[in-house]
Amino acid sequence: MSLPAPLLETQGLVRRFGGFVAVDDVHLTIRRGEFHSLIGPNGAGKTTLLNLLSGDLTPTEGRIFYGGQEITGRSLWQRARLGISRAYQLTHLFPRLSAFENVRLAVQSLHGAGVIRDWWIPTRSLAAVQEKTMALLEEVGLAAKASLPALALSHGDQRKLELAMALALDPEVLLLDEPTAGMAVEEVPGILAVIGRVFSRGNLTIVMVEHRMDIVLKLSQRITVMHLGRLLAQGTPVEIVQDRRVQEAYLGGLSG
Ligand SMILES: Nc1ncnc2c1ncn2[C@@H]1O[C@H](COP(=O)(O)OP(=O)(O)OP(=O)(O)O)[C@@H](O)[C@H]1O
Ligand SMILES: [Mg+2]
Repeated sequence: MSLPAPLLETQGLVRRFGGFVAVDDVHLTIRRGEFHSLIGPNGAGKTTLLNLLSGDLTPTEGRIFYGGQEITGRSLWQRARLGISRAYQLTHLFPRLSAFENVRLAVQSLHGAGVIRDWWIPTRSLAAVQEKTMALLEEVGLAAKASLPALALSHGDQRKLELAMALALDPEVLLLDEPTAGMAVEEVPGILAVIGRVFSRGNLTIVMVEHRMDIVLKLSQRITVMHLGRLLAQGTPVEIVQDRRVQEAYLGGLSG
């Protein structure tokens, strides 16, 4: 059986902050259609790597390829249009706008260069935008809360809203940084179900950074472990839990 083709690849990726090397010579391959988790102790470089993939940060060295095409110098927006979308941790929500308005703005951002250009759009496409917005809210389980301002939503619901906004860009690759972070225990199953459902509809590749191992093991097809900016191990969930180096890195991380 042949493996699916690589969709997202990095070669020798390095990111320094001053003299500190946060991401160190990373060669990562994400295959089309896989659920790939990125784990590792605090400070391992996971978020920095995700930022390099999304275009939030530029690498100090190395190259990034998407579908075989080099995207190293591409901006965040160029990458989003190619199909790489990122869910942001609350930072991109408009707190006073309704859940619906938040998602609608994300849907509209796909149609033009920005809000100004979309100031006037034909009624027919306006209806399509409304319809797509509502479908996205339904997909993440927020349809009943569409008219509530984002700030009135629970933390868990705000994370679902972010997810809907990321999905509004019709991504091929969805990048998630700790989707359950800061969530009340009872909210975790809800967001998990949403992520699982979104993935199972197909055509989506997910790269997720997450600390909760139960979640990682449940959702992932492949797992990459980072430690001190480097890739330590990669494999299936079963391979990773049995890996001695991984166990040592975690113990070292906890005691260090
Ligand atoms: N903008 C920055 N300026 C300076 N140092 C940074 C910056 N961003 C990250 N770092 C450092 O790079 C290292 C990796 O950070 P990163 O946030 O990528 O880790 P992480 O694996 O996501 O950790 P966590 O699990 O705690 O979220 C850390 O030591 C961090 O302090
Ligand atoms: Mg992080």
